Amino acid sequence: DWNMPDYISEAVAKIREQVGADEVILGLSGGVDSSVAAALIHRAIGDQLTCVFVDHGLLRQDEGKMVMDMFAKNLGVKVLRIDAEAQFLGHLAGVSDPEAKRKIIGREFVEVFQVEAGKLSNARWLAQGTIYPDVIESAGKGKKGQTIKSHHNVGGLPETLNLKLLEPLRELFKDEVRKLGVALGLPHGMVYRHPFPGPGLGVRILGEVKKDFADLLRRADAIFIEELRNTPCKLPALESIDAGEAPKNWYDATSQAFAVFLPVKSVGVMGDGRTYEYVVALRAVQTLDFMTAQWAHLPHSLLGKVSNRIINEVRGINRVVYDISGKPPATIEWE
Ligand code: XMP
Repeated sequence: DWNMPDYISEAVAKIREQVGADEVILGLSGGVDSSVAAALIHRAIGDQLTCVFVDHGLLRQDEGKMVMDMFAKNLGVKVLRIDAEAQFLGHLAGVSDPEAKRKIIGREFVEVFQVEAGKLSNARWLAQGTIYPDVIESAGKGKKGQTIKSHHNVGGLPETLNLKLLEPLRELFKDEVRKLGVALGLPHGMVYRHPFPGPGLGVRILGEVKKDFADLLRRADAIFIEELRNTPCKLPALESIDAGEAPKNWYDATSQAFAVFLPVKSVGVMGDGRTYEYVVALRAVQTLDFMTAQWAHLPHSLLGKVSNRIINEVRGINRVVYDISGKPPATIEWE
């Protein structure tokens, strides 16, 4: 059986022994894994850790502020927030192919990270929130053949930066990582957040990414998430979501939920006037492993409320649709 305080002291001792007096850098994404890795490493070596948080302009609403408040303000972790929105959106201008977009975002991410890491000339280690399933998944690559979507992370960085890899979560499963996060003082709401893809809203704005589209999508997505959190749910939990506890609300009852921006205009009426505006699709799924997924049977009253709020509050969106496709054949993300 797993004893958390013992686990933490062993992990801390191991990190101290490995790193000694060296400096460590870590790419903080705001996701669960990199956040827990940051909290653990900070517990072990304090200011020898510097986190780099790259804001590519494709984050969810208030995400940058939330990450900075949590780590820099509350935990006292050194975090460099790099505002790279103009750089990312500049390179994405005119590009609509999904794989090309992913490659650009991945490449620019490495580029920004490399520049920032290069400034920390004493850094000897690159820390990553690699967890056990990631280790297994990359070991299996090649056998499964073609990549369906190229997943972006900071792979390849250690070689170019000449850094050693520090991966303190390598032996843990997701539920263990979450428990560790809570034990290290991260808020429950952050540790039990839905996963968010590295390319962010870049793969949730279909086709060309534009700042205006990202702004509309962020607002629609925030309304959807807020209503999911505020709507009670009495279904039994999926094992991976919350260790068997009954979910309190529809956010906890779904594995991933988000809005997708469709760059298609359709006609609507508002008051006496005709509108001609964009469409937002809502996606919510339940899954244990993200390899297959079911669309979530959200209550119609919840969907209706979200639709009304988005159309009334987000000028520029006049139609909301719900995605009822399973994986397979559809993927969870639309790109
Ligand atoms: P799909 O869309 O392939 O997604 O069904 C499965 C899970 O993976 C996430 N995803 C990503 N995560 N970088 C990530 O870190 C990526 O490029 C990426 N693409 C998809 C997706 O959000 C879902 O949880």
